[in-house]
Amino acid sequence: MSGEKIMLILAVAFLASGQSIICPKFQCGPTLPNANQCIYYDSTNKATYISSCSKGTYCPATAQANSTCTTPTPTPANRAYPGEKCSSSSNCITGSCVKNYCAGISVSLPCSLNISSNALCDSGLYCDLTLSNPVCTPLKANLTACTTSYQCLYGSGCYNSTYCLSYGSIPNYNTIAGSECTSSTGYSPYCQSGQCYNFGNGTSICVEPFKSPYPTSPFQCYETSACVSNINTKIGVAMQGTCTCAKNAQGSAYCKEFVGDPIFSKAIQLWEAWENSGYPQKCNIDAAYTPGCLLSYYKSSLAYEVLFYNYKASNYPLYVNADDCTLNVYFNDYLLYASQQGSSSSSGNFLVAVASVIALSWF
Ligand SMILES: *[C@@H]1O[C@H](CO)[C@@H](O)[C@H](O)[C@H]1NC(C)=O
Ligand SMILES: *[C@@H]1O[C@H](CO)[C@@H](O)[C@H](O)[C@H]1NC(C)=O
Ligand SMILES: *[C@@H]1O[C@H](CO)[C@@H](O)[C@H](O)[C@H]1NC(C)=O
Ligand SMILES: *[C@@H]1O[C@H](CO)[C@@H](O)[C@H](O)[C@H]1NC(C)=O
Ligand SMILES: *[C@@H]1O[C@H](CO)[C@@H](O)[C@H](O)[C@H]1NC(C)=O
Repeated sequence: MSGEKIMLILAVAFLASGQSIICPKFQCGPTLPNANQCIYYDSTNKATYISSCSKGTYCPATAQANSTCTTPTPTPANRAYPGEKCSSSSNCITGSCVKNYCAGISVSLPCSLNISSNALCDSGLYCDLTLSNPVCTPLKANLTACTTSYQCLYGSGCYNSTYCLSYGSIPNYNTIAGSECTSSTGYSPYCQSGQCYNFGNGTSICVEPFKSPYPTSPFQCYETSACVSNINTKIGVAMQGTCTCAKNAQGSAYCKEFVGDPIFSKAIQLWEAWENSGYPQKCNIDAAYTPGCLLSYYKSSLAYEVLFYNYKASNYPLYVNADDCTLNVYFNDYLLYASQQGSSSSSGNFLVAVASVIALSWF
């Protein structure tokens, strides 16, 4: 049986690579002689000791270096895209706030590149920069020729850089273009299942999501060969995973999640619900999957739930068992999203604090 053959190959790989992963440690540290110092990097032991900063200052994250408490420099507030909430015209990229939503440029009227290619156009439009006099142009329908995904309707992309195709169109065991199956986890939005598999001979197909077969979660590992998915018995293959160091006091490493694992699949499910809510269509095409659009239409607690799972899926297992000091400095957004999800406080002001994420672009 092909499944057994694969097991055998994996067992051989396991014996052949003996190199154990050694992870640097991150933990709350002792008070340092210089009160302003917040990270002490001990290069001999490759350990990072973190202490807190006084109010009004923050600790800039460093990699293998000391750090000092710093006063934040005020950054200009992000301005909102067409379709997002605003309170005054100066809040909007286009400089026009109409009935609490930023207005954009209408179809067939001139547009130009701004903070992103299509930022000035109304929802449902992109700025056709290939024209000598660019104008806002309707997004392209399913199966229409395209060159980039932002030309295609919400919930679709420019498949194989050839034509617009709605996400989730390709059923299991159908082929998918190799150019659309390149992520290390085999995540592909064009697959109905979200999972593709690349045979390595030029053929890629959509399949059921791979899952972790480990007895515990998170699963601590010492080398990458320990991180292998379940076997898809129809095609007799498993996915090779990765053993990744987390930033914690134990210096432990964990196997990354596969597409079918709990956090990853929850993130996909939350983005699908967003897609089906009809709200992305109200936002500018460049902003439809960002915190700005989420927070303009979803209840704040739900918007943050999406951001929290997106963050967890994108960063797993880096934050696993990290202590508070480490979370504060290295996983600031984790704490922000965690504290806001499920809470009912409305928080339009967080719009500016939140880094922009583009959905479904993990790894
Ligand atoms: C880092 O901080 C420690 C403790 O304050 C100090 O002894 C060491 O010289 C610093 N290292 C560097 C490269 O500045
Ligand atoms: C972006 O658009 C606004 C409004 O049209 C304009 O004031 C601003 O100068 C533009 N910025 C860039 C970089 O084009
Ligand atoms: C887009 O076309 C594909 C391929 O024909 C089809 O499977 C899919 O359902 C279409 N999407 C929509 C939204 O009609
Ligand atoms: C994807 O595009 C390449 C060249 O652009 C082409 O050779 C290939 O056949 C396409 N694949 C599919 C599945 O459409
Ligand atoms: C690649 O391998 C798969 C699985 O063995 C097979 O189904 C497919 O036909 C192969 N493709 C090519 C182009 O050889």
